[in-house]
Amino acid sequence: MNGRTRIPLPQHPTGITGRAFGWLMEKINERAYREALNLLHPLQSERVLEIGYGTGRFVELLLRACNSCYIAGVDPTSTMVRVANSRRAIAANTDRLDLRCGDASALPWTNDSFDAIVAIHSFQFWSDPARALDEIRRVLKTSGRIVLILRDHAKRAPAWLPNPISRSGAEVKAAANLLVRHGFDVIEHSTKSSPALVGYLHSTLGSGAQTSAMHRRDSNS
Ligand SMILES: C[S@@+](CC[C@H](N)C(=O)[O-])C[C@H]1O[C@@H](n2cnc3c(N)ncnc32)[C@H](O)[C@@H]1O
Repeated sequence: MNGRTRIPLPQHPTGITGRAFGWLMEKINERAYREALNLLHPLQSERVLEIGYGTGRFVELLLRACNSCYIAGVDPTSTMVRVANSRRAIAANTDRLDLRCGDASALPWTNDSFDAIVAIHSFQFWSDPARALDEIRRVLKTSGRIVLILRDHAKRAPAWLPNPISRSGAEVKAAANLLVRHGFDVIEHSTKSSPALVGYLHSTLGSGAQTSAMHRRDSNS
């Protein structure tokens, strides 16, 4: 990227404006967090990874929902890494947290590290989604699960989105196909979320954000 090209704030919420964006994002996404938590349904002692954790609000909700879970996260924006790690609830639970700076396409954990993985409005920023899914599959235990909160951009996808699937005009279907190709069974969920934030895997294009949850198949099945 040259010096004149600026990465849009939602993809890279940096500096003071990034902090302000993060604050706003938390308010807007509150309903999505609740939906994601219901779908993820973390069990005691599970190990959970969030990809693109932003300000850490969802991590805070996870901490509250599951008092013996171990929670890890990766986000490439250093401002978000600082904001999340300085949240009171997060700073007070460092023994069961590991929020790092990094990218979906190179997850800095060993194989079979997690029971569950979640990504909320982050998928559209993964420039190489197939590689990210390879990584997700690698660090996820057999029979683990992933919850993706996707925004269905349909034909209105901004040209700058780095994820070709999100730009494709059929984001949810293509994402589901990609998951199937990576060994996941796709389970659809019906939720009563705000149409602006969360919808369903196979709802019609343009109806707003989409939610899908998948369980990793046993590689021998
Ligand atoms: C719209 S924000 C959503 C943040 C958070 N999930 C939430 O809902 O509050 C998108 C986040 O994805 C992160 N992100 C951007 N590119 C990423 C990538 N390649 N891998 C993982 N996260 C990424 C950004 O830094 C940002 O924190």
